Amino acid sequence: MSVEPWTKLNQNLVLSMNNVELPFIREMFDAIAPKYDFLNRSLSLYQDVIWRRRAIASLKLGNGREKKMMDVACGTCDMAIEAVRRTKGRLFITATDFSFNMLALGKAKVEKEPHGASIVLAQGNGLGLPSPDAAYDAVTIAFGIRNIMDRHGALVEFHRCLKKGGRVAVLELTTPTHTFLRGLYLLYFQKILPLVGGLFSKNRGAYSYLPESVLKFPSHAEFKAIMKGAGFTDVHARPMTFGIVTLFTGRKV
Ligand SMILES: C[S@@+](CC[C@H](N)C(=O)[O-])C[C@H]1O[C@@H](n2cnc3c(N)ncnc32)[C@H](O)[C@@H]1O
Repeated sequence: MSVEPWTKLNQNLVLSMNNVELPFIREMFDAIAPKYDFLNRSLSLYQDVIWRRRAIASLKLGNGREKKMMDVACGTCDMAIEAVRRTKGRLFITATDFSFNMLALGKAKVEKEPHGASIVLAQGNGLGLPSPDAAYDAVTIAFGIRNIMDRHGALVEFHRCLKKGGRVAVLELTTPTHTFLRGLYLLYFQKILPLVGGLFSKNRGAYSYLPESVLKFPSHAEFKAIMKGAGFTDVHARPMTFGIVTLFTGRKV
């Protein structure tokens, strides 16, 4: 597996971003990294795997031969691993994240994958990706855009990296709109999840931040408007699992 020199974190790049929340977010993910996969699977009741699968299917990569995908805010590389499994290594993936600890865990998982050699890890910021213009057939971000306050800036950056005809898939936690479901969800999300997440990760702050950031996330219509404003066409929002997650898709023409 080839690994770009992500160990040499470009501190200047991260700290010069006009986004005051960046160091806080990075430190938070560095802290919860060891328990991240376990909590992800258990708190989502294994649904996270299915959501990522659907996001990859939406990219319509065919057999993936000679195609390139960038996974932004890749965390422990679940999206990249799922994509190489589906395409049996015929797809080349750059997986990027600004958290060293998340990437380190991702690297260990990628090395165990039969098609892991198709994945390159690069430490980087979603607002300034390590890519020339028009280099990728697909850009994905799963449960990451919520943490980036400058969503327009990030989507413009994804658009820049895509080839013409390329597709973007944004998976994000959203709030159900149905009144009853919304009530249940808020109970789980605001009361139970911070408790369980905090207990296992020993970081209550991170699992209190989670519901806050989801509740503040724009509505489907608002987020679609941001995607269109960044240059994407064919923009769709597909709610999944009663609307607790939404897959947003778009295309560069
Ligand atoms: C909830 S995790 C999602 C990880 C992974 N995509 C998944 O599906 O499990 C969010 C990830 O976004 C990363 N992240 C947040 N803001 C970022 C930014 N501005 N640039 C790069 N990565 C970022 C965090 O370090 C963290 O690994």
